[in-house]
Amino acid sequence: MAIHPPEQRIWWNEKVATVELIWIGVAFLWGLVMFFMMIYWHGAGGQNLSNEAYRIEPEAFGERVDEMIEAYTVREDEDSGYPVVHPPPGSDVYMLARLWEWYPILELEKGQSYRLNLSSMDWQHGFSLQPTNINVQVHPGYVLVMTITPTESGEFSVVCNEFCGIGHHQMIGRILVTE
Ligand code: CUA
Repeated sequence: MAIHPPEQRIWWNEKVATVELIWIGVAFLWGLVMFFMMIYWHGAGGQNLSNEAYRIEPEAFGERVDEMIEAYTVREDEDSGYPVVHPPPGSDVYMLARLWEWYPILELEKGQSYRLNLSSMDWQHGFSLQPTNINVQVHPGYVLVMTITPTESGEFSVVCNEFCGIGHHQMIGRILVTE
């Protein structure tokens, strides 16, 4: 009973029960199995995306986002007023996270590859692309680069899945894929 002091004050010298030792062993071995499964899933399961990460100041990342918007904006989104940007296939495309939005709206072409650059201007956010199984953390001070090739056309949502404050649940972005 934890509410009473232990009978033996030097309790950490007492013998550990065999069944407890077995559980510690099982948990340790399972941890090792799961560790090596991360490497296995990278190749066999299509999980744990290949990516690159570099240090970058938020201001410098913001400038790159603005340059892309200036060069390749095709229209303004009617609902949000955000620029819809259609960068050339094969290029670096940028999306920034900040309290509480993903910016801007990207319009990509199906079957073309892009280098998607993600970074945060303030807090940690989570980039979760719906309804696909892509899920990465987005940190300020680092840019995460993934090569993506959309295989389906349509409208995809970017949901923030790292709790980032009072507007977290409204932090939804968009990626459009055209035929
Ligand atoms: Cu951004 Cu939660």
